[in-house]
Amino acid sequence: MNKKTHRSLSRPLKMVQSILDFNLEKEINKKIKINKQISILDIGCGVGRSLWELSSIFSNGDPDLQLQGIFYSEKPNKQSAFFSNQIKYVEILKDPLLIAKEFKIKYKNKVIPKLFNTNACKRLPIKSDSVDIIYSTNAFHFFDHKIKAIEEMSRILKVGGMAIINIDRTDDGFWSDKLHFPRLHIYSKNKIIDAKKILQNKSGDDFTIFIKKINSHATGKDAYVLKITKHQKGTLRFPELSFDKNKSFSFDNIRFSDKNYKDIPEYKKFIATGITIKKKFNREDFGGYLSSYKLK
Ligand SMILES: C[S@@+](CC[C@H](N)C(=O)[O-])C[C@H]1O[C@@H](n2cnc3c(N)ncnc32)[C@H](O)[C@@H]1O
Repeated sequence: MNKKTHRSLSRPLKMVQSILDFNLEKEINKKIKINKQISILDIGCGVGRSLWELSSIFSNGDPDLQLQGIFYSEKPNKQSAFFSNQIKYVEILKDPLLIAKEFKIKYKNKVIPKLFNTNACKRLPIKSDSVDIIYSTNAFHFFDHKIKAIEEMSRILKVGGMAIINIDRTDDGFWSDKLHFPRLHIYSKNKIIDAKKILQNKSGDDFTIFIKKINSHATGKDAYVLKITKHQKGTLRFPELSFDKNKSFSFDNIRFSDKNYKDIPEYKKFIATGITIKKKFNREDFGGYLSSYKLK
């Protein structure tokens, strides 16, 4: 089939770095000077284009470079709106060189990125304390159990390693300015708690948590980037938060262009959260997944 990959699955490295407001290449260069083995993981990697670009820049045999990516896709289903993506994922798992060829990246003698189809919100098939750099763009807002994903990232990071994650797409002017993480809903007795504070409170001797607001063209204005640096072996834990399955749901079914959108169960659930939005709905849909947690 080999249809061209949709651009939302294959942002180039340059754009990935701009979304993260972070120079990954420079960071990798720093790590290369001190480590013999470097392991890099893109979470929600799409087809892994930026990993191929990193391979092209850094794989010269020394140090030992490992490039991994995680995506999450169901078996191809013709009824699904994501059918062409699902097919693409099957193709790239069969032929890992396909993306290098499609984007004209030289692959001879280069490290081949290893991609997995797995949910980033479950235990990852990656050893604890083994990854130097985790990065993620335009993916976190799709995750169902976002806190579990953060815990997993912290587990697999090496001491001295860092994760840099573009947290949300803000849909220009849609969400209230007060919401730092619109799709990570934490509440206590019907009151919305600032997710940014909950995360930042975890900063300490073992991990540093840094959250920064950036103005990124690629994601809409005012996207947030979360940076986790690991200083000691271990895993970040959030025992004070319990995942509320009943209040968590995908936004995919809410179509504001439908006359009866107010009757859709997910819309009713959304309104019940008390999350405020700035403008009238003016988009076909706004995608992603609302992860709700009760603060104990
Ligand atoms: C819009 S694409 C972004 C791709 C790439 N990061 C980029 O910026 O071009 C979103 C990616 O997140 C992945 N994804 C969504 N939910 C996921 C989950 N729960 N676990 C792992 N990956 C997930 C999708 O499979 C897809 O690869």
